[in-house]
Amino acid sequence: MKRLKIANIPGDGIGREVVPAATDVLRTISEIHGGLKFEFTEFPWSCEYYLEHEEMMPKDGLEQLKDFDSIFLGAVGNLNLVPDHVSLWGLLIKIRREFEQVINIRPAKVFKGVKSPLLNPKDFDLIVVRENSEGEYSTIGGNIYQGEDELSIQNAVFSRKGTERAMRYAFELAAKRKKHVTSATKSNGIVYSMPFWDRVFKDVAHDYPHITADSQHIDALSAFFVTHPERFDVIVASNLFGDILTDIGAAIMGSIGIAPSGNINVNGKYPSMFEPVHGSAPDIVGKGIANPIGQIWTAKMMLDHFGEEELGSTLLNVIESVTRDGFLTPDIGGRYSTREVTEEIINRLKISDKKGDIKSTTVS
Ligand code: NAI
Ligand code: MG
Repeated sequence: MKRLKIANIPGDGIGREVVPAATDVLRTISEIHGGLKFEFTEFPWSCEYYLEHEEMMPKDGLEQLKDFDSIFLGAVGNLNLVPDHVSLWGLLIKIRREFEQVINIRPAKVFKGVKSPLLNPKDFDLIVVRENSEGEYSTIGGNIYQGEDELSIQNAVFSRKGTERAMRYAFELAAKRKKHVTSATKSNGIVYSMPFWDRVFKDVAHDYPHITADSQHIDALSAFFVTHPERFDVIVASNLFGDILTDIGAAIMGSIGIAPSGNINVNGKYPSMFEPVHGSAPDIVGKGIANPIGQIWTAKMMLDHFGEEELGSTLLNVIESVTRDGFLTPDIGGRYSTREVTEEIINRLKISDKKGDIKSTTVS
């Protein structure tokens, strides 16, 4: 029996609606799959917690989390109670940084039954691997002088270790997918870091002869995300480029409510953290209409991370059969509630085969 300890942090707003939904789905999966058991421990860390304790999580919060196999987070943020920079930096970003979650992954694909804003989305299915620890988001630099002499310098930091780590992750991922990696570069305009990035990419690609590789400048690449997203498999990008590309990825899928993400610790010292792309959605909180698919797809990514890729793809196929058949929340044009969509996914999981197809009840 494989036991997996999961730290649930629903957080704020709709996080408290979609995390319980996705947790029920994971429980169903472990009922179906006898060899797998999830042990969930819930942590109340949130903006309400802050009001009471003047901190987003206790001083030993990271210590409490560090031995879990994974962290399953909803969303953080309630502007009525706590400024965003306090809530995000006090919890989410702290976990990402301290637990060395140096890579962020976000898939985007044509989702059956969900309308993409693209006129002709074809059948795209891609994943962005974003370097998440350095690059353009460094804290090296400073400001000097005032008035018309005012000057600001922000340094981008690219280490061979960090760059290579993200690239290897991308190639390993591509090996399990369509076997192609695209590097997001800008070596025609950025003269030190990006030629370095290209060089490391070439070195790493050399170690994966069975995977095809190409490099594209970030401006053209962004345009291709809109005009030809079906050309891509895995894209590896620096922190800033990846940030922008992943937002385009979520946009072309049709709703932020379905987009998942993973913050990956690759050295095995700390747990990775899985969270949907969306925030706490204060405008719809408490209405019971939050789309649970972002969180449930995030659970699928967590299954993949645990090496349960077959279960992961079963789950994704079941989710897509549900959207295909019109069980949609209002954000994607439907009239179903969080609970109804979740129940439909759970019921279908119970009667589906490994591929996620509904088992035939008739014998022919
Ligand atoms: P948001 O993602 O919470 O909402 C943006 C829009 O998308 C809203 O209209 C919302 O109703 C809709 N939406 C989002 N998720 C949905 C879902 N699952 N189903 C249906 N509709 C959904 O972003 P916003 O409004 O900018 O931020 C709200 C709060 O969330 C802020 O405090 C912000 O700091 C925080 N936030 C937290 C994030 C995180 O925890 N990773 C990420 C983004 C924002
Ligand atoms: Mg962003």
